[in-house]
Amino acid sequence: MLLIGATGVAIFIAVITIVTFKFLSSYVHKWIQMKPIPGLSPTYPIFGNALHFKADGGETAMGKNIYAQSNSDSEYVKAVYRMSDIIHRRQKMPWFWSDLVYYVFGEGRKHNRNLKILHSFTESVIAERARNMANPERDSLRSDSDTDHTVKKKRKAFLDMLLNATDEQGNCLSQENIREEVDTFMFEGHDTTAAAMNWAIHLLGSHPEEQRKVHKELDEVFGTSDRPVSMEDLKRLRYLECVIKESLRLFPSVPFFGRTFCEDCNINGFKVPKGANAIIIPYALHRDPRHFPDPEEFRPERFLPENSSKRHPFAFVPFSAGLRNCIGQRFALMEEKVILSKILRHFQVEAKQQRDELRLVGELILRPESGILIQLTKRTQKLM
Ligand code: HEM
Repeated sequence: MLLIGATGVAIFIAVITIVTFKFLSSYVHKWIQMKPIPGLSPTYPIFGNALHFKADGGETAMGKNIYAQSNSDSEYVKAVYRMSDIIHRRQKMPWFWSDLVYYVFGEGRKHNRNLKILHSFTESVIAERARNMANPERDSLRSDSDTDHTVKKKRKAFLDMLLNATDEQGNCLSQENIREEVDTFMFEGHDTTAAAMNWAIHLLGSHPEEQRKVHKELDEVFGTSDRPVSMEDLKRLRYLECVIKESLRLFPSVPFFGRTFCEDCNINGFKVPKGANAIIIPYALHRDPRHFPDPEEFRPERFLPENSSKRHPFAFVPFSAGLRNCIGQRFALMEEKVILSKILRHFQVEAKQQRDELRLVGELILRPESGILIQLTKRTQKLM
């Protein structure tokens, strides 16, 4: 009896030690990833997370700057990272899907603590914005010229629109409704684009000929000027757009999404009953050779209008499709174009890993297990 008891305790301690060690090593690992690599000085893991980008003193979608780039210590940013880890761990452990079990035996309390941090941050942003809207004099986002009565109309932040939205009876959205929308945008809108840019840079860094074409296009649009990118420029960066789409085809940032069937269906001869759940995996769908011959090849030309206009509309769905598709897809493409063009105007990129070394992890976002290493070389000569 005593022996069984002692063995039980030993196993319990061993399990706790292993779990703690794995947990700590995962954080240490992530921390190391974010540092320049000594001895290989121009090589950096890029785009840790798009929360680390900020509009330079400018406006943001929510009309509030979180200064995540300069303040990665921000409680909010840290809570977002922790929450992604927590949710992903829970997804993998079905025995914790019950709230009660999760709260008593799992990470339920930690989950709730983080959720509270996220919610109170969003709530404070919303409250501050509502106060400023009620009292325009205090609105820190209004520029000097805005106080001039002749100024052109200022574009509204997304949050302002939510605060002003009313239904036919004139009812405003509740505080909770607004917070849910803000949370969805903050969550859906940051890591997805960061991961997509990571992959695009890796692919360009492994395909010099395609990178040369991007550089040529950038030189045609910007010449030797260092001016910021404009909306007009974005429209002209057609090849870069093909690169972004081809990267999303090979490595869709959202690796899977789900739907519930509202009616009985017949799919390829299989009867699917109403109520069944379907998981759509764009990573697999995008490799269908009927729509993408030699699917593993990186060929941005596939997305030139002449090569894609006849393709089935659901053959390429990195942003999902139908009524609940990604609301931010146009914004995401623009954001990627702005950041990638900024990098590639100034640098040549070289991938320091082979694709099969990257080992994909399909967490909430499709990412390489140990980050992506890129060597940046300053471009001295333009191609034109
Ligand atoms: C490369 C970047 C992005 C990718 C690949 C992506 C992908 C997706 C996908 C696949 C969905 C649908 C999920 C589902 O069907 O269950 C989705 C939904 C959504 N995305 Fe994105 N997204 C990206 C960027 C963004 C950005 C930048 C924003 C906001 C600024 C955003 C906001 C949203 C929102 C609000 C939804 C929920 C829409 C709804 O449920 O009606 N996304 N996204």
